[in-house]
Amino acid sequence: MTNRFSFTLLAQDGHARRGEITTPRGTIRTPAFMPVGTAGTVKAMYPGQVRDLGSDIILGNVYHLMLRPGAERVAKLGGLHEFALWPWPILTDSGGFQVMSLSSLRKLDEDGVTFRSHIDGSTHRLTPERSVEIQHLLDSDIQMQLDECIRLPADRREIERAMELSLRWAERSAKAFGDQPGKAMFGIVQGGDQPDLRIRSAERLAAMDLKGYAVGGLAVGEPQAVMLETLAETLPSLPAGKPRYLMGVGTPDDIVQSVARGIDMFDCVMPTRAGRHGLAFTRHGRINLRNARHAEDSSPLDETSDCPASRDYSRAYLHHLVRADEALGGMLLTWNNLAYYQSLMAGIRSAIEAGSYADFVAETKAGWERGEA
Ligand code: GUN
Repeated sequence: MTNRFSFTLLAQDGHARRGEITTPRGTIRTPAFMPVGTAGTVKAMYPGQVRDLGSDIILGNVYHLMLRPGAERVAKLGGLHEFALWPWPILTDSGGFQVMSLSSLRKLDEDGVTFRSHIDGSTHRLTPERSVEIQHLLDSDIQMQLDECIRLPADRREIERAMELSLRWAERSAKAFGDQPGKAMFGIVQGGDQPDLRIRSAERLAAMDLKGYAVGGLAVGEPQAVMLETLAETLPSLPAGKPRYLMGVGTPDDIVQSVARGIDMFDCVMPTRAGRHGLAFTRHGRINLRNARHAEDSSPLDETSDCPASRDYSRAYLHHLVRADEALGGMLLTWNNLAYYQSLMAGIRSAIEAGSYADFVAETKAGWERGEA
């Protein structure tokens, strides 16, 4: 096993890329989907199950973990990998995005952001340097810079101000991170729906020579077409030899379309959160198990799947569990959804290697559109 962080491009099909990130804690096959383990757990899943589905890396959140149980406490207990029994790579988000979406009484200034905890109302402060320190205490493999993400639509001057602030915070994050051979600090492109601001952000981050780059500030209220156009306009300004991560995205369709434009990594709460709310993702599209038409349906979600949750349990039983608000309902649907997402990623990787990505996308979409088997 290597003691360095590196990215290798293995194949390309159009703009779609098949690659490999190597880290001391394991290899990440790209395009990769990172299940969200916000508070040190991929909700309703055992770590071994998440791994067995083909997850090479999971995501953790500075915001949640600094509030509970606290970064210093996690460090004292051996770091997040040891604490959560996940010895493989972990990427941590820096906290800025969650402060904006979850906390109350936020006050942002040049140096950082002060906010009230959504848990107990206590006051906390995050700066680029403190976020790096917290991510270090968690022993994260891939750290994200602190940034400011704003919702769309927004005023251009406001988008530009947040983008420029995020660039200054990228410089400070990179400086605080220093030189750590086995680990990475990723910069985050901002700039909303303004192509020239996106390009300026990407070029200035590229000049910092970071180990990877994320595109942030998307899937925040704009139509999918705007997100895809923004990617097409932004990605050419990022270096081809570094991984590219689209933050907080998305649906299976968002993922296949974004891969076609050159994205290598994704994270999203969609499969886990939707699963806990009774929604299944399958190769036949979405199935809402709350719906009464499943009440006496003895067929499974997908008889061809290797995942027991997809293959062995009837839709009628899943419907019953969801309606009765039983914990097993959320567990089985989360398991099914992550199995589907990871099998989609495996299909994407094979198709890029085979040079048949366009056909794969057409067939996959046809499956979703044909509807339930
Ligand atoms: N998660 C989804 N979008 C974003 C973003 O723009 N910034 C950060 N830090 N996290 C995100």
